[in-house]
Amino acid sequence: MIEFDPRHRIWLLSTPTMAYALRLDEDGTPRHVHWGRPLTLEQAAAVPPFRDPADSSFEYPRADGAEFPVAGFGPPALQVRFPGGGQEIEWRCDGHTVEGGHLTIRLHDRCRPLAAELHYRVHEDGEVLERWTVLRHTGGDAPLEVLRVDSAAWSVPHLAGYRLSHVTGAWGSEFRLRREALPGGETVLTSRRGVSGHHANPWLMIDDGGAGEEHGEVWSTALAWSGSWRITLHRSPAERLRWSGGFGHDGVTWRLEQGESLETPVFAGLYRPDGFGGTSRSWHAYIARHVLPAGSELRPVVYNSWEATGWAVTEEGQKGLAVLAAEVGAEMFVMDDGWFGARDSDEAGLGDWVPNPGKFPTGLDGLIAEVHRLGMRFGIWVEPEMVNPDSDLYRAHPDWVLHEPDRRRTLLRNQLVLDFGRPEVASWAHDWLDRLVGGHGIDFLKWDMNRALTEVGRPGAGDPGRPWIDHVRGVYEVMDRLRADHPRLRIEACAGGGGRVDLGVLRRTDEAWTSDNTDAADRIAIQHGFGQIYPARTMAAWVTDSPNFLTGRDLPLRFRFHVAMAGVLGVGGDLSRWSAAERGEAAELVALYKEIRPVVQHGVHYRLGEPPLTGVQYVADGRVVVLAWRLSSPFGAPPAPLRLRALDPDARYRDDDTGAVHHGAVLLAHGLPLELPGRSHASVLVRLTRVE
Ligand code: DGJ
Repeated sequence: MIEFDPRHRIWLLSTPTMAYALRLDEDGTPRHVHWGRPLTLEQAAAVPPFRDPADSSFEYPRADGAEFPVAGFGPPALQVRFPGGGQEIEWRCDGHTVEGGHLTIRLHDRCRPLAAELHYRVHEDGEVLERWTVLRHTGGDAPLEVLRVDSAAWSVPHLAGYRLSHVTGAWGSEFRLRREALPGGETVLTSRRGVSGHHANPWLMIDDGGAGEEHGEVWSTALAWSGSWRITLHRSPAERLRWSGGFGHDGVTWRLEQGESLETPVFAGLYRPDGFGGTSRSWHAYIARHVLPAGSELRPVVYNSWEATGWAVTEEGQKGLAVLAAEVGAEMFVMDDGWFGARDSDEAGLGDWVPNPGKFPTGLDGLIAEVHRLGMRFGIWVEPEMVNPDSDLYRAHPDWVLHEPDRRRTLLRNQLVLDFGRPEVASWAHDWLDRLVGGHGIDFLKWDMNRALTEVGRPGAGDPGRPWIDHVRGVYEVMDRLRADHPRLRIEACAGGGGRVDLGVLRRTDEAWTSDNTDAADRIAIQHGFGQIYPARTMAAWVTDSPNFLTGRDLPLRFRFHVAMAGVLGVGGDLSRWSAAERGEAAELVALYKEIRPVVQHGVHYRLGEPPLTGVQYVADGRVVVLAWRLSSPFGAPPAPLRLRALDPDARYRDDDTGAVHHGAVLLAHGLPLELPGRSHASVLVRLTRVE
C-alpha cells in the first residue's frame, strides 16, 4: 500500500482504485506528484513536475505543486508567526516512517523552532486516503502564533474544466446538493459557527464538468471535524486546481508554547473513475468500516415523541405514545425535549438534568419500565452543551459559558453554550450523563445542539483560539468516555436537525438526525444531498403527521413511509391522532421495513432517475430493494422508466410481491415497470431476489 523510491525520493500510496504520490525536492520541500488513477512507482517518477508555465517575476518560484503550501501567493495550508514577527518557513526533511498503511513524513524549519508531521493513512480494505498534520513548537521561550494549520492540501491533475459539488442549506433545508462550475480564483467553503453547519457541510467533489452518476473521474474530500472549518479552493490562472482545508476559520489563531503540539483532524480523500455514484459508494463503505463505532449493526426503528408533544411531556402521555409506538413496531422509544428541569418551552431548564417532578413524580423509572414491558428499548433526548440563563446551573455557574467578559452574551433559542473546553464543565457533563445512562439502563441518547457559537472566549485561557477547538474536543471526549463505559449505549447526532453531521461526530455516534424538515417531498432532496457522502445506515428518517407542521403539505402515509424507508426508518408523528387504519398500515410498513432493512442499511446504494421520478436502489447478497417516488406528472407525460444498476445481465430476478420474473439485462436496459397510481405523489417499493 505504501512504497518509497529512495532514488527519486517518491512515496506512493495505493488503494485498488487510486494512487497518491509525493516527492521531496532538492531542498527538502515535499511536492505533490499525483492523485488519481493507479500508477506504479516507476510511472509516478515519470509524472512531469507540477509547474505553472508563466515564468514571471510576479509568481513565487517554488510554490507550484507544494504538498503542504507554506509559501507563495496561493492559499497556504500553514501560516505561522514566529517570535519577532517573521512568517517564512523553509522545510528540511528529517525522514519518514511507514507502519502498515500509515506514512509519517517529519519536517522541521531550517532555523526556527517549528516541526511538522504530515500523516497519510490508507486502509487495506478501502479506497480512502486519510491525511492530517501535527505541528510542534520545538524550542525557545516565546510562543508561536499559528494563523492557519490545515489538515491537508489536495491537487488534481490538470483538467479541461473544474466543477464543484457540495451542499448548502439552512435549518429545515440541509444538504441541498449544488453542482456548479468552479470560478477562477479562490472559493471558500466554510463554517464560522463553531459547528459543521446546516448551511454547508465539510466535503466536496471535483470533476471536469463531464462526470455523471455512473461515469467520469471524481476527486472528493471530507473533513472529520464538528466545529468551524474552512476549505479554500484555488483555480489558478494557469487552470490548475488545488484546495486546502482544516479546522478553524479566518481570524481564529492558536498559540503554541514550547514543547506543545497541535494536531489537526483527518481530512480524507478519494478518487473514483466511475462518477458520483461510485464516489458516494466508496464514502459509504469507508464510513461503515472505518468511521462508525458500530457500523456493522442494524439500526432499530425509533419512535420519537418530539413532533407529537413538543415540550408538553408527561409520564402518562409518554406511556400512551409508547403503547401505540409498540403497536406499530417501534423498537426504540425516544423521549425528546421537555422531560427535565423547568423545561416547558425553550426559555428555561437547559442545564438542570433532573426529571421535572411535576411531569415525572417518581422519576423516569416508571416510564422506562413500561417501555421495556412493551418490548422496546429506551432512549432520551439531551442537549449537554447548552444552558438557559433561566436555570439553576447558570445561576450557580454563570462563568461556565463561552463568553468574553466585557461583551454581551448573545442568546440564540434562549440559550448559551457551555464551554466544554473547561475540564470542570466536561466532567460535570460526563458525570450527569454517566448517572443518567448507567442509573437507568438507557440505550440511546439523542444528543442535540441547538445553536451556533458566538462570543467564543474563555477569560484567562491565554490562547484566544483554543476554545474553538477545545469545545469540539471536549464534546468528543465526553461521548468517547460514555461509549467506553457503557458499551451498549448508542448515540444519535443532532444539531437542530442536520447541523452537525460530519466524519468527526460519526466516529462516536451511530446515526444522525437528518433534518427537522420531515416533509417527505422535501426530504427526497435533503436525503439526496445527505447520501452523497453519508450512508443510509446513518440517515435517521421519521414518518410524521400530515399535513406537515413545517410545509403544510399533505402526503399519503405510504409515500411518507417509502421516503423514510430509504434510511433508518423512524416514526415521529402523534400516533394518538392517527386512525386505527393508519396505524394498521403503519405497522405493516414497519414490518416490511424490518424485512428489507439489511439490504437498505447494509447494501450498496445506487441513485436512480431524474425528477419527477427518482428512486434509490440497494443491493446486497442477491437481493435488490428499489424505492421510487414520483412527485408530479408534468404535462401528464409518463416519466422515464427507472433503469436499475449493478445487476447480473444474465440472471433473472423475481419480484418478491408479484412473483413476476425479470431478466437482469432488461432491467438494466429498459428499467423496471412500476405501478404508480394517479398523477401526483405516488411511490412504490419493489423487492427483487436473484433466482438464477
Ligand atoms: C431540535 C431537534 O432537531 C428536534 O428533533 C428536537 O429534538 C428539538 N431540537 C427539541 O428541542
